[in-house]
Amino acid sequence: MSTPLRVGLAGLGTVGAGVAKVLIDDARALEARVGRALQLTAVSARSKKDRGVDLSGVAFEQNPVALAERGDVDVVVELVGGEEGAARSLVESALRNKKHVVTANKALLAHHGLALAGLAEQNGLALKFEAAVAGGIPIVKALRESLVAYPVTAVRGILNGTCNFILTQMESTGRSFGDVLTEAQKLGYAEADPTLDVGGGDTAHKLTLLASLAFGVAPDYAGMSVTGIQHISPDDIKFAREFGYRIKLLGVARKTDKGVEQYVQPAMVRAGTPLADVDSSFNAVVAHAGEAGAFFFEGRGAGRGPTTSAVIADILDVARGEAFAPAFGRPAKTLHKAKALPHEERVSAFYLRFHVLDVPGVMAEISRHLAGENISIESMLQRGRAPGEPVAIVMITHEASQIAVERALRTIAASDKVFEAPCMIPMETV
Ligand SMILES: NC(=O)c1ccc[n+]([C@@H]2O[C@H](COP(=O)([O-])OP(=O)(O)OC[C@H]3O[C@@H](n4cnc5c(N)ncnc54)[C@H](OP(=O)(O)O)[C@@H]3O)[C@@H](O)[C@H]2O)c1
Repeated sequence: MSTPLRVGLAGLGTVGAGVAKVLIDDARALEARVGRALQLTAVSARSKKDRGVDLSGVAFEQNPVALAERGDVDVVVELVGGEEGAARSLVESALRNKKHVVTANKALLAHHGLALAGLAEQNGLALKFEAAVAGGIPIVKALRESLVAYPVTAVRGILNGTCNFILTQMESTGRSFGDVLTEAQKLGYAEADPTLDVGGGDTAHKLTLLASLAFGVAPDYAGMSVTGIQHISPDDIKFAREFGYRIKLLGVARKTDKGVEQYVQPAMVRAGTPLADVDSSFNAVVAHAGEAGAFFFEGRGAGRGPTTSAVIADILDVARGEAFAPAFGRPAKTLHKAKALPHEERVSAFYLRFHVLDVPGVMAEISRHLAGENISIESMLQRGRAPGEPVAIVMITHEASQIAVERALRTIAASDKVFEAPCMIPMETV
């Protein structure tokens, strides 16, 4: 009879309690699936409060790092969170103490993934993180193990459910970003401090991991250009609709001849394409895998059920004891820092919105500044109020370099006929 896989679980919060419940309540079904018992031997959390799971007979450690030192733990499941502190200490000492690691911690891996992957490999251990990107969607496994015959050239994703919920609500209700954010916080869709979500940082953590898996480069969070959704107005969402687009916060990683482009930015996505139709708190990823074609994945990116599902799948992989694929799909020592393509060198069509004083000559002035940077206009609309009051002028440009557009907008913003900083959103055409 095979020996059980003994699990030490750190964190009994939203995800941790879900994982504990499945390990205990569904132990027989899991054993039947892998031919080996999974035994939750020890847990750690800050408090011993009731988690709605029967943890009698399971050891409790106040300090999660103690799990890494226990003789009755084969795999440490880290569901504490945070890029430093207890989570990092636990994962490092688990790998040093020859324990496999399963984690959902995108922040930790985006910052320290390369070193941790190296440590896991040196010790012949698994470091698995399916739940760290897009919750229940099996995109990590797909990029690491499935889409491997042809090089992946681009990955685009809606990777933050909070942002997608806010943008969807703004669109359906016409309410402002601030209003909808407050509602999302009341409903528990947004954190009390929403900065990491709405500022794009959480999407960037996940994109860092996807880019590494897709292109065989070192995770490079610092090299990413990140813009959040705070500046998106209901007007922009309405105008996007009129032009046949929807605004989505996208994480995009593309391999080009010049290097790897990685950015997080609100983008205009053409209505009717798969990413445009992803609503509410759902996540989705499109991966372009050369001759294999494009693949679209959609599902719940957060919450107890989807995240637990991904964590349990990783634990089962460890239980099967197959040869472990390196954490990022290639040996850690081959993951070099990608040559980053500065975002200013990007070429795209852009949506531009100006709030201007409705006086003769203002349109000519804007057009002149754009033409001066070789930016031509594909289409335009103007929504007027009374003469002498602010009006919105909206344009879609032909392809132009981002640096030229930014330069033109700085000049235009300095005009006394322009009321607020112009809004610029790239058009995602695929
Ligand atoms: N929630 C999601 O939908 C989701 C989705 C994808 C990935 N993730 C990732 O999964 C991880 C866990 O997220 P979560 O939402 O489950 O977090 P959570 O609800 O805040 O739970 C965190 C758990 O860690 C414990 N903890 C925190 N600091 C500790 C310390 N110093 N020592 C011991 N225990 C400590 C807490 O103990 P107490 O309960 O006693 O306070 C709690 O049980 C994070 O990395 C997160 O990014 C979450």
